[in-house]
Amino acid sequence: MPDRTTPYDRLLGALTRRQLLNIAWKVGAAAVVSPLGSSTAVAQPIFRTYPFTLGVASGDPWPDSVVLWTRLAPEPLDGGGMPMVNIEVGWEVASDRAFTSVVQKGVAIARPELGHSVHVEPKGLAPEREYFYRFRAGGEVSPTGRTKTAPTEGARVDQLRFAVCGCSHFEAGYFTAYRRMAAEQFDFIFHTGDYIYEGRADGGRNPALVRQHRGSEIYTLVDYRNRYALYKSDPDLKAAHASAPFVVVWDDHEVDNDYAGDLDENNTPPEVFLLRRAAAYQAFFETMPVRASNMPSGPSMKIYRRMKFGTLVDFSVLDTRQYRSDQVCGGTTATGCTAAGDPSRTILGPEQERWLFEQLASAKATWTVIGQQVPTFSRDFAKSNPKGRYSMDKWDGYTASRQRLYARVVETSAPNPVILSGDVHLHYGSDLKLDYADPKSKTVGVEFTNTSITSGADGADVNANWEAIRGDNPHIKYHSARRGYIACTATPSAMRADFKVLDRVTVPDGTERVGGALVVEAGRPGAETA
Ligand SMILES: [Fe+2]
Repeated sequence: MPDRTTPYDRLLGALTRRQLLNIAWKVGAAAVVSPLGSSTAVAQPIFRTYPFTLGVASGDPWPDSVVLWTRLAPEPLDGGGMPMVNIEVGWEVASDRAFTSVVQKGVAIARPELGHSVHVEPKGLAPEREYFYRFRAGGEVSPTGRTKTAPTEGARVDQLRFAVCGCSHFEAGYFTAYRRMAAEQFDFIFHTGDYIYEGRADGGRNPALVRQHRGSEIYTLVDYRNRYALYKSDPDLKAAHASAPFVVVWDDHEVDNDYAGDLDENNTPPEVFLLRRAAAYQAFFETMPVRASNMPSGPSMKIYRRMKFGTLVDFSVLDTRQYRSDQVCGGTTATGCTAAGDPSRTILGPEQERWLFEQLASAKATWTVIGQQVPTFSRDFAKSNPKGRYSMDKWDGYTASRQRLYARVVETSAPNPVILSGDVHLHYGSDLKLDYADPKSKTVGVEFTNTSITSGADGADVNANWEAIRGDNPHIKYHSARRGYIACTATPSAMRADFKVLDRVTVPDGTERVGGALVVEAGRPGAETA
């Protein structure tokens, strides 16, 4: 770290550590040694309690760069507990876990405006390489994280292994699936959202819940920070982050259940809801290993983006919440809802749709992967729920958007499309049909939908409506209602999805198994049982 010692620092330096800790106690969290008169007020803290309580994370791998993240929070559940000054945080990247061979290091500033989070984007890393990273603040050192850069754009890649996960409700169960993912040391982990849930503490109304949120439903920036910190207090989640870079998007619960654009589910005036959305998006930015280019501006934050993994995988991730038209026909499930097909409605918004359609035209890798939140494939519930045949919150409620997307996939001949989704707390593997009313219509690709990490608690082998819906939905090739995640393996010849399931999440350390597996052969649209 650079020497920023000033006469004031030296005066403070003459104080004993015990005296400084007493000061720390009085100010709440940390004694701060700060250069007087400095406009940046960069400070070296002495922490009363360990500041790296939220662990470390990395994300968005590029061939030469990956985001490194941490947040200083000695009192994580209570606003963070940091003094309101800028703090220097040292970082280092090494090619070995023991840090005998440090390849880059530097100093970042953790700012009060961003909850003392740090987003470091080292440049010039080697492609397709495993690295280890850690942070320092004051005399404290963070846990070590493992990460991996992407292959260069034109590189031939023999194999890429990534996980697909989402929907981790803190109260509903233990985050064992995150722990199991950590053990797999993936090349990256794609999170489909619902990383947190915004609801109030259950308070014992549901005796099946294994642990509790704190406080009321969350609305303010500090509320969202504290909720993220509660989730991040989970050692299994921290282990997942420390094991591999994450590629994160959000779903609805990072803000509010089933929100659509500037509308929440309670008819709050949009200009009021946007204040809440701004707080939620800022906390998302502060907590997630995303790039500075994703930083929110007021209630807007652009998270749709593209990553390339050599000639093997072209990966676009989408945002189906921020720009969508409002749900129609009651917003839950509906039958005969003609508004669902209104071409003036959109789930991506015009700008993102245009962007995606351009990406599809330039996709050249073996696998065109699109990661997003809600299932695009159709689920026809006619037999199990005659008055609620389709879910209006999914692409079934935005069928004109779906047809535009599928038609564009066909038009561009984007190679081997694979869509990833989550949200529904059920595993599905499905073929994508140009016309779901006609099982013989063209198969345009496949979709893998991850179940939840915990939402819905233990679950069952199949959902209650499965027998009723399977006959009407022959495009669905795999289903499970257990908790877990998907482990995907891409090679130049095939894409395999192993649907991992846990026997229980309401007890710690549940047993994992592969519930089923699908394989897609390159050049042959459609999934087959492995
Ligand atoms: Fe969810």
